Amino acid sequence: MRPSHHDIEPSRRMRTRGKGDSAVTANHPFEQLGTEQLREHVAQQLRRTRQRSALLTDSVDDDDLVRQHSRLMSPLVWDLAHIGNQEEIWLVRDVGGREPLRTDIDELYDAFQHPRAQRPQLPLLGPTEARGYVGQVRDKVLDVLERVPLEGRRLTEHAFAFGMIVQHEQQHDETMLATHQLRAGAPVLEAPPPPAASAGPLPAEVLVPGGAFTMGTSTEPWALDNERPAHTVHVDPFFIDTVPVTNRQYQRFIADGGYDHPRWWSEAGWAYRQRADLTAPRFWTREGERWLRRRFGMTEPVPPDEPVVHVCCYEAEAYAAWAGRRLPTEAEWEKAARFDPATGRSRRYPWGDADPTPEHANLGQRHLQPAPVGAYPSGASPLGVHQLIGDVWEWTSSEFHGYPGFVAFPYREYSEVFFGDEYRVLRGGSFGTDAAACRGTFRNWDYPIRRQIFAGFRTARDARPDELG
Ligand SMILES: [Fe+2]
Repeated sequence: MRPSHHDIEPSRRMRTRGKGDSAVTANHPFEQLGTEQLREHVAQQLRRTRQRSALLTDSVDDDDLVRQHSRLMSPLVWDLAHIGNQEEIWLVRDVGGREPLRTDIDELYDAFQHPRAQRPQLPLLGPTEARGYVGQVRDKVLDVLERVPLEGRRLTEHAFAFGMIVQHEQQHDETMLATHQLRAGAPVLEAPPPPAASAGPLPAEVLVPGGAFTMGTSTEPWALDNERPAHTVHVDPFFIDTVPVTNRQYQRFIADGGYDHPRWWSEAGWAYRQRADLTAPRFWTREGERWLRRRFGMTEPVPPDEPVVHVCCYEAEAYAAWAGRRLPTEAEWEKAARFDPATGRSRRYPWGDADPTPEHANLGQRHLQPAPVGAYPSGASPLGVHQLIGDVWEWTSSEFHGYPGFVAFPYREYSEVFFGDEYRVLRGGSFGTDAAACRGTFRNWDYPIRRQIFAGFRTARDARPDELG
């Protein structure tokens, strides 16, 4: 990936008005935790996260671990040792001030040194060595966690560096889940199905009032640099889909020749559609009149009421144009998700300030597919928008830029080198995203051609003056 530098340029429908007001920021759970409770919370998050990494790497044999299942992905054994290497660099060496375990492998596991396609050719640690290494790092980290002061240094304030490493591992767990989806062969992962729809009939769209709201955060303890600082953004009134676009809706677009008419596609989108010969979401195949999909090694009929997944941003845009609509901007998405009209405050999550539970959202690889729309009425936002968190990442029309007042922390390569017009922002997390790596303010970014990620979308439109009641 090529680092690029761009000035912060708020998009056409996003007018910046200055710093967020602390009176409208949300309550944060760590404020109630004492230092020992915070250490226990961190240890539990580290444990829980490692269990998932182990599940994703122990469920395949050694051949599968070292193989590259797609040129888009690293071998799983690279992800595993890279997780340990980042943990060593930040928590053992920097936070802990301890002697390195292995400096000889830093270069191998530096994501900026080697693109994914080249990683299988590197002299990587084998499965046994990699497991031994991540275990040794973890032992040292748990010792550091017991002893290091969780104050006095920005990196350790509220255990931020530990939270960053938990999120990093969880992000790689989602990447490894995407590798599992690309892997050929018999199924090795299983999970119970998601809950059924229970919300009752929902309106097709929701009006989000125009005006200012607080975007981003200055107080969320484990928020990453690109989510900061909180700032006031003006958004014009708009309508947004109550739920993400479903497979049923998307099939209508296909049946109506959506992939055949350049008029629905941007110039770049049509060029990619032609070059990659796109005709349906990735992993879909046609059998007579019906569509089938491949999901973690199983072939099954496409469920009509689930959000569509494995579409790129260009496909999302084409669908929206065909439907007479557009993708929401990132600011619109966040206002729909966080703005509480009763208080004027922005919440941590659509449902409030409490951390996600299984009643709120389909997160954490608990189910290995999106839930049907209407399955999470308890997770709706105050305005009545459903399933913003979990199920599928949602493409927005916004490029990835720093917020006004952005400061790179703890290093430029975390976000800043990706700012620019190459990437589109995705919001809300997917069924493959852990709650620790998903917030109302969390920003993901990727190339608009990406389809192997667990991404779908919802659409929006401007509100007309006569619709504002
Ligand atoms: Fe990484």
